[in-house]
Amino acid sequence: MSAFDDDVKTSQLKRVLGKWSLTAIGIGAIIGGGIFVLTGTGAYYHAGPALALSFVIAGIACVFAALCYSEFASILPVEGSAYAYAYGTVGEIFAWIIGWGLILEYAMGSMTVAVSWSGYFNKLLKMFGLHLPDYLTSDPASYTGEGFSMNLPAFCIVLVVISILIQGTKEAAKANNLIVIMKVSAVLFVIIAGVFFINTANWDPFIPAPQLVKEGDTLKEAYGIQGIISGAAAIFFAYVGFDAVSTQAGEAINPKKDVPFAIITSLLVCTVLYILVSLVLTGMMHYSDFNPQGKYPDAIKAPVAYAFDIAGQGWAGYIITIAATIGLISVLMVMIMGQSRIFLGMSKDGLIPKLFSDIHPVKKTPAKSLMILGVLIATVAAFTPISKLADMTSFGTLFAFTMVCVAVWILRKKEPNLPRNFKVPALPVIATLGILINVYLIWNLSHDAKLLSTGWLVLGVIIYFAYSLHHSKLHKKGYGETFKAEQQPLEDVEVDIDNKD
Ligand code: ALA
Repeated sequence: MSAFDDDVKTSQLKRVLGKWSLTAIGIGAIIGGGIFVLTGTGAYYHAGPALALSFVIAGIACVFAALCYSEFASILPVEGSAYAYAYGTVGEIFAWIIGWGLILEYAMGSMTVAVSWSGYFNKLLKMFGLHLPDYLTSDPASYTGEGFSMNLPAFCIVLVVISILIQGTKEAAKANNLIVIMKVSAVLFVIIAGVFFINTANWDPFIPAPQLVKEGDTLKEAYGIQGIISGAAAIFFAYVGFDAVSTQAGEAINPKKDVPFAIITSLLVCTVLYILVSLVLTGMMHYSDFNPQGKYPDAIKAPVAYAFDIAGQGWAGYIITIAATIGLISVLMVMIMGQSRIFLGMSKDGLIPKLFSDIHPVKKTPAKSLMILGVLIATVAAFTPISKLADMTSFGTLFAFTMVCVAVWILRKKEPNLPRNFKVPALPVIATLGILINVYLIWNLSHDAKLLSTGWLVLGVIIYFAYSLHHSKLHKKGYGETFKAEQQPLEDVEVDIDNKD
């Protein structure tokens, strides 16, 4: 018996997620603060009106990875996402590094999202004439006053989300479905209402000629073709999350079919919405008006709301703020849920302590792991200036995407006859393009993000040799082979069909 057979047979999670709930999980994780915040930066510092093309490129990078994720998901109905896929194909240490990289995507992503949520929440309070003191909304490094300070809203929202997640996957999915409907409506609202305020002259030239733009104290080359590509890296964070669907395979009713469907559908829906939002935004406001040293210095911080403000439709800003505040809760929910399921996979394999795979006997959720994650994420979000680290989240994601493209190819070579419900068409071409475009986008991330993320991966290697290797089940049990998907029929897993949504 292989390690994977063990995983599947011993899975105690409840299979309660149908294909639309899974799709909602994807959309729930994708649409967040990114689209409402990064579009101004992308337009002014990188691509101009051609920002829509940056969204196309980042979307394509994701589609390549999504296809590869889908092939894996159609073979392996286990939680753990890219970590689990790599574990079965390229070996334990590679899987470990990917899992360690995924912590950047999921746990660090959650911290970043919790801090952004706090920003939107404070804005919302101000709209209703309420005001939290600065020492309760700033981490100590960003606080300008004296004495104690913490980001209390960021701390609290993580604990609220954790308590929902502990209650059960079905309950969390229900809350997520509602939030997704609301935030997709808000994005559609931005597109439909915004169309009436487009001035097509703002799109001309659509790809501005390359030019030096001042960012802080440095001059950076913007616009032109290179600007479109660096723009794709800058807004990539807005796409982070679709792969979260693959962390839920352990709870999907029919994972081999529904996980690929949900990954691809959620990504396509969001790509179309993002392209339309960026076209509307750059049509409503000239890209040069996002200059923080220009006539609208704050526009770049909340570009979508500002575009409506400037069009004399300030009320739209209220709707966007409410949508972002509620919408970010579902990003947080899916990201933390995803992280706990990746830890579950790693813990079952013995690479991290066993308590991360203990399942609550009644709620059927990894409650202990969620509590530990909750305390860690809430504390870091409350006391660390992490808002600038969205790029590290993108690094972790792009790194995982690259490895999945590599791993799916290896598996095709190693096990060509394995039954696959979904096969990537023209795999060598798709995987090669996926690898190239993802690596190129990593290359275009900020210097600090590349340095810190590489340091994180090195730390991961040290921990592997100091702890994980000595506790690994693979080494203890001496599994000769790690992968044999033919031997893991899904029918062997208890399926909660009655709970189908
Ligand atoms: N894609 C998610 C967001 O934009 C992480 O907030």
